[in-house]
Amino acid sequence: MHKGLAIYPGSFDPTTNGHLDLIERGAKIFEELVVAILRNSEKSPMFSVAERLEMLRELTAHLKNVRIDTFDGLMVEYAKSLEATCILRGIRAISDYEYELQMALMNRKLEPTLETVFMMPADKYSYVSSRLVREVAQAGGPVKGLVPEVVEQKLKEKLDPAYKLRDARMSEVLDRKEFARKEKKRKKKA
Ligand code: PNS
Repeated sequence: MHKGLAIYPGSFDPTTNGHLDLIERGAKIFEELVVAILRNSEKSPMFSVAERLEMLRELTAHLKNVRIDTFDGLMVEYAKSLEATCILRGIRAISDYEYELQMALMNRKLEPTLETVFMMPADKYSYVSSRLVREVAQAGGPVKGLVPEVVEQKLKEKLDPAYKLRDARMSEVLDRKEFARKEKKRKKKA
């Protein structure tokens, strides 16, 4: 186990099973892990910082060396204020690499004593991202298995109209199929 504190920064909007997988892996390697939610994200988030904080706290309650916090401004400055020695980030696929490399090198330029450590989540989550989860959920699609159950529930509550609309669309599809089946039967008889 690496002595010292690591920070796992991100937007976590919302937390996916990939994030959770990485937190669990990080908790095994680092003495202490702080999952840090960026507060001043320019994007308009789906979940408020308070909601994300609450969900992450619930999801990591079983991990005694994991703490959830929020931060603003430069990540390296926040990391320094906690006397962190490492930044933990996940890499899912080659497509993540370029952005992560740039960020790691910029952070190194800003604070050379901080090391970025990359870990890979389980391959079954290699295609899961918060952005795609939001997109699927906003269209009322199923996100089971992509996000923890508490997040799935919160998405359903938040996007209730989208899920209702999808249910209505699905029953329309079923009605159309039933109509086509009956028509086929009727024509056969005629
Ligand atoms: O989950 P995300 O959105 O990929 O996380 C990106 C995050 C929050 C780690 C990054 O945007 C960040 O550290 N922002 C804080 C501002 C900062 O330090 N920017 C310089 C990074 S090189």
